[in-house]
Amino acid sequence: MAGQERKAGRTAEPPRHIAIIMDGNGRWATRRGLPRTAGHKAGAETFRRIATYCKNIGVKYLTVYAFSTENWKRSETEVAAIMALLKKYLLEAVDTMERDHIRLHFFGDMTPISPELRALARETDEITEHLSRDDFQANVCLNYGGRDEILRAVRQFAEDCAAGIRKPYDMDEEEFSSYLDSRGIPDPELIIRPSGELRLSNFLLWQSAYSEFYFTDTLWPDFDEAELDRAIAEFQKRDRRFGGVKK
Ligand code: IPE
Ligand code: IPE
Ligand code: MG
Repeated sequence: MAGQERKAGRTAEPPRHIAIIMDGNGRWATRRGLPRTAGHKAGAETFRRIATYCKNIGVKYLTVYAFSTENWKRSETEVAAIMALLKKYLLEAVDTMERDHIRLHFFGDMTPISPELRALARETDEITEHLSRDDFQANVCLNYGGRDEILRAVRQFAEDCAAGIRKPYDMDEEEFSSYLDSRGIPDPELIIRPSGELRLSNFLLWQSAYSEFYFTDTLWPDFDEAELDRAIAEFQKRDRRFGGVKK
């Protein structure tokens, strides 16, 4: 992406930005004869662990796919259970993020989200503003879809053009990125999808242009620090060329 530093070749450092499609909660629960919601509860625990681990090993941004624009197709019970878990996490975060130096940010269209959850997200946003920009940041994708994010950006840009603030020919990759939920955040170097599915499912469509992918059959509730280490080790072996040629 224009305006962003792109490091070609191999690296010994962990990625600055890791993104994870937290998939496989339902299958994890079903295999244990439990309701799908038990899988989401276990998945939320995994998120806590992996976020802490990322912070400890020096990853700067962790972006997780928690609820997609398509996930409303699920039963009311399942959607309500996921929202309740998010609420529980946010209530906890309000009390601990300042102490733990964890910045929290949301990607996605918050309009259809309950006022209660939105108020909590506003609260965590305020706490984040008081934390240092150098602190670890978790981005939670809630009612997020890559296509929806792009459409919201296009609508806003069109409005800004109509208002005379922008001109159509000002638009370039850097400018467009500044209209996305991920504004100010570098693209993820590594995208991880557990659970054996080999697709993006509408995740970070713009930002993933040059991401490295790591797929594993492990279901998200079973994903652990060792699995993340494996993903990072694999990433470090990749030769990133960005369209150039190997030196
Ligand atoms: C991911 O796990 C969590 C959400 C999509 C909210 P799933 O619920 O999709 O789990 P599987 O894919 O059915 O196993
Ligand atoms: C992607 O998983 C969305 C999240 C993990 C939040 P899904 O389970 O919804 O994706 P599909 O249906 O397998 O593509
Ligand atoms: Mg799934």
